[in-house]
Amino acid sequence: MERLKIVVHGALGKMGQEVLRAICQEPELEAVAGVDIKAESTELPLPDSSRWIPLSTDLESTLGNYHADVLVDFTVAKATMPAVRTAVSNYVRPVIGTTGLSDADLDEIKSLCEKQGIGAVVAPNFSVAAVVMIHLSKMAAGFFDCAEIIEMHHEQKADAPSGTALTTAREMIKSRGKAFLHAPATSETIPRSRGGELEGIALHSVRLPGMLAHQEVILGAPGQTLKIRLDQINREAFMPGVILAIKKVVELKEAVFGLDKILGL
Ligand SMILES: NC(=O)c1ccc[n+]([C@@H]2O[C@H](COP(=O)([O-])OP(=O)(O)OC[C@H]3O[C@@H](n4cnc5c(N)ncnc54)[C@H](O)[C@@H]3O)[C@@H](O)[C@H]2O)c1
Repeated sequence: MERLKIVVHGALGKMGQEVLRAICQEPELEAVAGVDIKAESTELPLPDSSRWIPLSTDLESTLGNYHADVLVDFTVAKATMPAVRTAVSNYVRPVIGTTGLSDADLDEIKSLCEKQGIGAVVAPNFSVAAVVMIHLSKMAAGFFDCAEIIEMHHEQKADAPSGTALTTAREMIKSRGKAFLHAPATSETIPRSRGGELEGIALHSVRLPGMLAHQEVILGAPGQTLKIRLDQINREAFMPGVILAIKKVVELKEAVFGLDKILGL
């Protein structure tokens, strides 16, 4: 069986390296080249030290030279769209993990893929556990009147609450069809002790060294609570989702947004 040929865009980055490591473990996949704006040499050792692959700053010639089937992109939002245009016009299917794409970008990806009749996968979160956690929280949302979310991240995370916590809360509210009931403190000795609030869901953000990315969704009803907990301890968490998307994207005829669609949720 012919192996799928993958070019990794952002090959020198943290996620790019993790993707190359994951591809090395997949007999059906072959990393044929890396592209990165910071490339200073023409070759890159694979993370498992099995061999070296070509490295370049020029995406278009790399895709053509190595007959890529799939482009995996973990770069920065402003680099992703030019890469997608180049890939799709060369019939190379994009798997995009870079975050921060706009709705207009997503619309453009959809129409580029439609025009060429090929697939793409765009997922701001490739962690299967995170996607399933959101799905379970949505399922539970209709059975409880009260819910709170505690998200816990490393101390360098700039934004609060996390994007995952916000998405979870929004999806739970959508699934329930109305706001949750929020019990405010009648007296708050320290301001904001009850956390932020989104349509009745209290959101609490913990920032501590020693943590990576964790979240608890707690749903409450008289005499009972349900707790759904997510722990991501390293970047490996994203790899089963990325590998699944690479294998799936070659069967698709359109752009798909979100790992949940690939998982059939
Ligand atoms: N979808 C997910 O599940 C998921 C998970 C983790 C991170 N991310 C996202 O992936 C992206 C990358 O994250 P990271 O931690 O690997 O960042 P990083 O900074 O470690 O790596 C980014 C790489 O992209 C390269 N790059 C930047 N601009 C480029 C350009 N114009 N052309 C070619 N290469 C370019 C950089 O040189 C760098 O090597 C971010 O957007 C991050 O939010 C997504």
